[in-house]
Amino acid sequence: MAAPNIETIVSLAKRRGFVFPSSEIYGGLGSSWDYAPLGVELANNVKAAWWRWMVYERDDMEGLDSSIILNRKVWKYSGHEDTFSDPLVDCRNCQNRMRADKLDLPAGFASIEEAIRHKAVKCTNCGETDLTEPRPFNLMFRTQIGAASAEDDPNALAYLRPETAQGIFINYLNVQTAMRRKLPFGIAQIGKSFRNEVTPGNFIFRTREFEQMEMEYFVRPGEDDAALNFWVKACFDWYARLGINPDNLKLYEQPKKELAHYAKRTVDILYRFFPERDDETKRWDELMGIANRTDFDLKTHSKKPEDAEGKRLNPDSTEDLSYFDEASKERFYPFVIEPAAGVNRSVLAFLMDAYTERETDKGEKRVILKLHPQLAPIKVAVLPLAKNKPEIVGMARTLKHQLQPHLRAVYDDTGGIGKLYARQDEIGTPFCVTVDHESLEDEAVTVRDRDTWEQQRVKIGELRNHLMKRLKN
Ligand code: GAP
Repeated sequence: MAAPNIETIVSLAKRRGFVFPSSEIYGGLGSSWDYAPLGVELANNVKAAWWRWMVYERDDMEGLDSSIILNRKVWKYSGHEDTFSDPLVDCRNCQNRMRADKLDLPAGFASIEEAIRHKAVKCTNCGETDLTEPRPFNLMFRTQIGAASAEDDPNALAYLRPETAQGIFINYLNVQTAMRRKLPFGIAQIGKSFRNEVTPGNFIFRTREFEQMEMEYFVRPGEDDAALNFWVKACFDWYARLGINPDNLKLYEQPKKELAHYAKRTVDILYRFFPERDDETKRWDELMGIANRTDFDLKTHSKKPEDAEGKRLNPDSTEDLSYFDEASKERFYPFVIEPAAGVNRSVLAFLMDAYTERETDKGEKRVILKLHPQLAPIKVAVLPLAKNKPEIVGMARTLKHQLQPHLRAVYDDTGGIGKLYARQDEIGTPFCVTVDHESLEDEAVTVRDRDTWEQQRVKIGELRNHLMKRLKN
């Protein structure tokens, strides 16, 4: 079956309670989305799977949860105040706002600026060619600390973090010391980030408020190239293990001109988010990136190094974040490999990849969301075959209560059994358990598999273990 487009997922997400447009009763808020009852479960499961894999299943990892609002100087020395901007272009005809780096460069021009000056670039909305020169627009959301306005008192100015990474760098020494870590080791963090994106859109693909899963892996200089290759493969395999078809993933080596100022090398993992697009290259977009950030971050936040005149390059920091290697008696700044993923883009990719359609014997179309059981919002639905039979309903409710401390279970009696199965298939529930008339006699229930629609009779006393085992496999 052809992969669905994002619109199919938007409609499923609203209909079945994964993601709702935010502030909808007030007309919405551009590109803001709320995670609905099933969406919050899915996102939590994605984050839990990442944390388990990244932190618990490794010997060289620590976790962190740093503040969203940090000292403004963090963003000064990280370079975000000066360079975290997108080149903005306006259409003078219809006021449409575009990112210059996302516009197609027409043949025969060396740069988009030159092409705009020669009126060779069309507005993506109205098609006119009267566009402004690109100008930098800083993406950080500004806020103020305390009662003074940031306009009157520059000390009151603060930002909502645009990435979780800097919270890790400024805690690097604390973590290393408190946890007695030696290189190589990593610090992982999951949390919200905010960017005043010029062109948000495509559902939860690009929003102004989003969530990141980032890890900074600290290594000796010289071990950075191998570490980057390791993490590229590990991240690719993580998505594939959790059910994404590897044919819908591909690696993208960022060319020199695209690299961030701090990066030696960056490899993006792309997902086929836009299968409906005519141009093959435009079907793919970034799911996550793995960057070699060199020793830029630890150096820039250090009170050292000094320049040629012995002047400290960072007069505001109180710490030197260099590393002393006991074995070799060397002091140096570790290099950093950073796998940086988006929770929201991961959720979208998992939803798109899980979406399948199947025809019933009667020729009806059924949607089946073949989510990996670890990610499925609900693991089991307990359904009574007859809702007017108190003994059957009672048994089904008791079963749900017995299962719920161990796995996410729901009870549903709001339709005929066919409809109830279809509803659970559409939200990705791996198993349905049906209590019928015979259950009252034989103390057994029917377990139905989402993917094969096969049914199996299981003794109630064995049900929990049966489900746990199948969910694990
Ligand atoms: N610390 C490095 C960093 O933040 P990034 O490529 O800008 O790198 C990492 O962001 C990931 O965060 C992206 O690959 C994407 O999954 C997610 N992300 C970034 N901006 C986003 C946005 N506006 N909306 C949703 N996800 C976003």
